Amino acid sequence: MRVTTASLVSTSLLLGQASALPHYHEGTKFFYENGTQFYMKGVAYQQESAAGGASTGSTKYTDPLANTAACKRDVPLLKALNTNTIRTYAVDPDADHSECMKLLDDAGIYVISDLSEPSLSINRDDPKWNVDLYKRYTGVVDNLSKYSNVIGFFAGNEVTNNNTNTPASAYVKAAVRDTKAYIKTNVNRWMGVGYAANDDPDIRAQIAYYFNCGNQSDAIDYWGYNIYEWCGSSTLQDSGYDKQIEFFKNYSVPVFFAEYGCNLPNGADGRIFEETTALYEKEMTDVFSGGIVYMYFEEANDYGLVSVKGSSASTMKNYDALKTRMASVAPSATAMDSYKPTNSPASCPELSKSWAVKGGTLPPTPDSNLCDCMYSSLSCVPADSTDAKDYGAIFNYICGAAPAACAGINGNTTTGVYGAYSMCNPKQQLGYVLDQYYQSQNSAKDACDFKGKAVLKSGNAESKCSSALSSASSVNSIAATATSDVGGGTSGGSAGAATSSNAAVAGGPMRGLFGLGELAVGLYVVVAMGVGAGMVLL
Ligand SMILES: *[C@@H]1O[C@H](CO)[C@@H](O)[C@H](O)[C@H]1NC(C)=O
Ligand SMILES: *[C@@H]1O[C@H](CO)[C@@H](O)[C@H](O)[C@H]1NC(C)=O
Ligand SMILES: *[C@@H]1O[C@H](CO)[C@@H](O)[C@H](O)[C@H]1NC(C)=O
Ligand SMILES: *[C@@H]1O[C@H](CO)[C@@H](O)[C@H](O)[C@H]1NC(C)=O
Ligand SMILES: *[C@@H]1O[C@H](CO)[C@@H](O)[C@H](O)[C@H]1NC(C)=O
Ligand SMILES: *[C@@H]1O[C@H](CO)[C@@H](O)[C@H](O)[C@H]1NC(C)=O
Repeated sequence: MRVTTASLVSTSLLLGQASALPHYHEGTKFFYENGTQFYMKGVAYQQESAAGGASTGSTKYTDPLANTAACKRDVPLLKALNTNTIRTYAVDPDADHSECMKLLDDAGIYVISDLSEPSLSINRDDPKWNVDLYKRYTGVVDNLSKYSNVIGFFAGNEVTNNNTNTPASAYVKAAVRDTKAYIKTNVNRWMGVGYAANDDPDIRAQIAYYFNCGNQSDAIDYWGYNIYEWCGSSTLQDSGYDKQIEFFKNYSVPVFFAEYGCNLPNGADGRIFEETTALYEKEMTDVFSGGIVYMYFEEANDYGLVSVKGSSASTMKNYDALKTRMASVAPSATAMDSYKPTNSPASCPELSKSWAVKGGTLPPTPDSNLCDCMYSSLSCVPADSTDAKDYGAIFNYICGAAPAACAGINGNTTTGVYGAYSMCNPKQQLGYVLDQYYQSQNSAKDACDFKGKAVLKSGNAESKCSSALSSASSVNSIAATATSDVGGGTSGGSAGAATSSNAAVAGGPMRGLFGLGELAVGLYVVVAMGVGAGMVLL
């Protein structure tokens, strides 16, 4: 069982390589392999990792695809709702998912999953795309790619969520690029990589265009919208859905609701799902490919369809409302044979007060070999006993005293200048910065001390490393003075020090859980978005 997109077939035919994977992604619709159009009839399926609103800094999450008993309990209820897709927010790449995936497959249910988890995600306030995140993302791809009912992934969920944190989108787009490339090299079938966005009026157009613009190897395969603007009884006009239809009419990849289901005015159980009916009617289906109801589990945020206690699950009133709606939707289907995509990718947005990301240049691809080579070549490194929470102070000191030392680990999304080691992990970056500082002080012994937090070692540049190290070094010396486009592209470095926060887990309107990055000491971010506020912001 698998879903594909028009491009898989049409591009292959154009290139005359029926078995080749698509290089470019065109077309705004999803299709089954047999050529029938596919509409997502989805439900978000992941328990909150912490009670809603609790910013404990806990990084624990419950992998919804690793609990066979829960899948046995829940899959029949999902199937009875006519669900054909679940969205999961954090899965464990080392867990065994085979039983849940089989139960889902047998029920005709696909999976679309976020790639991050609370402690390994792109942090909107301190964004990175580094070797630790790359390992996490590709680990999830490895583990889920063997199941044919996986449609694809989200490289981020509401990471940039307003005009104060647009730089994070550069790092998410680099993650899109690298995850797509990884799939293309390692997986013998199409799986998509997209982004799930909130709806913020200040950046609505820029962010949608940004993820779609430029080289299509770097661009999203689909756009997911988390949208809560139809509450109770409404209309296409009052909910602003009509403006979304208008906006996405000329978008070049599929668009669907990655979350929907406003719980106003009467809580989860007061939901009547009028918008579900609208979503599968012609005005919407011309442009949208269905959507994912938020969410299966009734929890503190009150968006559930089913109340779960231990091994028992009881469906709620709004489950029945959704079931009735779903049973009667009949979206008109375009046949793949007669479908000719006509839309083209957007142009990248201009830099402006509300968009601080240059199109075209992305942070570099994480390369752990290069980082390892760099680290072993260093003479001054963090002492083994140095705690990650001490890193920040040392970075601040050195980057303040000797800014050039830090050019190799920094990234600037408005200029498109990225140090070659901006994609290494925090310890490797600290080593690089310590060593740069030490060298800049003519290798004075006391320049590698920092109260015992740094130590000397013998630098050992292996010969297999020399050419990579010398290109990185030239990128970094240009980056130290450059004002545009250095170090980005397909390899080199991105991202600075910490990872984490704003993971997709608990993608709902009350995002309760935020991980703490190694360096993000004391960073508690509680997002209480105003979504669901029935307001037409368009
Ligand atoms: C194609 O496959 C889907 C999913 O199995 C099925 O619902 C649909 O009826 C099939 N279409 C045709 C024309 O056989
Ligand atoms: C996923 O992880 C489980 C548990 O380690 C392992 O059994 C399984 O082989 C992994 N699957 C893949 C495709 O890596
Ligand atoms: C932007 O989003 C951040 C994180 O959610 C929030 O803290 C901040 O208040 C928002 N700023 C504006 C201007 O909305
Ligand atoms: C787009 O990116 C791919 C992968 O990095 C590259 O091979 C290709 O040459 C690029 N295409 C253009 C038109 O720049
Ligand atoms: C879609 O149309 C709008 C308005 O004409 C235009 O600004 C935008 O660039 C177009 N987008 C694409 C992807 O062509
Ligand atoms: C990026 O570079 C520009 C131009 O040099 C500078 O004005 C801006 O402060 C830099 N941004 C960051 C986040 O360092």
